Amino acid sequence: MFSSDVYIERRKKLRPGLPGGIVLFIGNQEVPFNYPANTYAFRQDSNFSYFFGLDHPDLVGLIDLDHDQEWIFGNDIDIDDIIWMGKQPTIKDQAALVGIVHSAPLKELKEVIRTACNQGRPIHFAPPYRGETILWLSDLLGIHHLEVGKRVSEPLVKNIIRLRMKKEAREISEIEKMVDVAYQMHTTAMKMAKPGIVEQEISGIIEGIAIAFGGAVSFPVILSINGQTLHNHNHGNTLKEGRMLVTDAGCENNFHYSSDITRTVPVGGVFNARQKGIYEVVLAANLKGIEAMKPGVPFRDVHLLAATEIARGLTALGIMKGNPEEAAAKGAHTLFFPHGLGHPLGLDVHDLEGMDENLVGYDNETIRSKEFGFSSLRFGRKLQEGFVMTIEPGIYFIPELINIWKRENKFAEFINYPVVEAYRDFGGIRIEDDVLVTADNHRVLGRPIPKTIQEIEEIMK
Ligand code: GLY
Ligand code: MN
Repeated sequence: MFSSDVYIERRKKLRPGLPGGIVLFIGNQEVPFNYPANTYAFRQDSNFSYFFGLDHPDLVGLIDLDHDQEWIFGNDIDIDDIIWMGKQPTIKDQAALVGIVHSAPLKELKEVIRTACNQGRPIHFAPPYRGETILWLSDLLGIHHLEVGKRVSEPLVKNIIRLRMKKEAREISEIEKMVDVAYQMHTTAMKMAKPGIVEQEISGIIEGIAIAFGGAVSFPVILSINGQTLHNHNHGNTLKEGRMLVTDAGCENNFHYSSDITRTVPVGGVFNARQKGIYEVVLAANLKGIEAMKPGVPFRDVHLLAATEIARGLTALGIMKGNPEEAAAKGAHTLFFPHGLGHPLGLDVHDLEGMDENLVGYDNETIRSKEFGFSSLRFGRKLQEGFVMTIEPGIYFIPELINIWKRENKFAEFINYPVVEAYRDFGGIRIEDDVLVTADNHRVLGRPIPKTIQEIEEIMK
């Protein structure tokens, strides 16, 4: 974690614009996977991490706006726990690490919240996403668990988004270190991508690299020769010559700053002509998107630029036809590129997504589209200095989607269906980088990971 002054400053910056009351951050608890004492690896809540730093279960951070006090609630452990877990710092000592002087046992929290509620003081909290937290809030607030979501504090959520979207230099440095670990993950996957190996042999090794050099994977590894399935977590296929391997994987450090990188390589290490054709189009879209990243540019425009590049490239290959700008503006490319160009990255791999995607990614100026493809764009509003975004265009041949569009003769003026048929078994390609918006430009974070056809063929030799 960072030093205490970082968390003190962040909590101070959280307050403007909040009416009085209490701000409550419920940290995460351990989650069992098959019986109570056998738990998943502990993952702290990202908001708790951001404002209170501590990476232990069963902690609550509380800011009393009316009395200008900050508290950590948690239980000191007893000798029974010490036998199993070893000696642990007291809650008071943990609180001091993040600049907090007040601490109390968890059992006192309920009374504090009940008194505040009785006084009619607002209790501000962010959207809970775990059942345990929802039930805990339900108990603290004395309301049915289905009512909890309706009590989320919009002013708090907006302040959290304002702060967490703009990365501090120290955060950028942590994200960048995790891209460097992703370099190791991805180059290892490239070198292992030989015919006959099973996907899980590669995914297991690169997950190990994430754990060894970061702390954990930032999301379950996506690694598949069936890259046309966007989030393919099945790792049971055997690699075969002629297929492409999509690896979408990143890691997070011990206090949760993440990377998220995708590379696609030909099994065996040499691109055939068909693969080269599609790969160059995705690469051009990736580079076009990156080039457009700077403050003041709406990310929706960057998405459209990349989509247009895809339409242009596919038209050159004869897979699409007509005017590429018009095709992309109307959404004809979404048969091949049905997702958004990217998303914010930080303490969450889809940073802040739990806070309400539309509050994070859209505003009065930029309204979210409801059209197929464009509606998947999680973030559309203007970029600002300090934002870290992924740029991840892709081209996929999804047989089921092709069937539907073909049946409907959808966008027949832009899609060359007979040629599409020849690519039905192609799979998919995605290329993803992590990009910082700087004062007047952008910077691709971390050690460059082989991306051109030449670089990939070279490292796979
Ligand atoms: N890396 C997976 C995703 O961005 O959805
Ligand atoms: Mn991503």
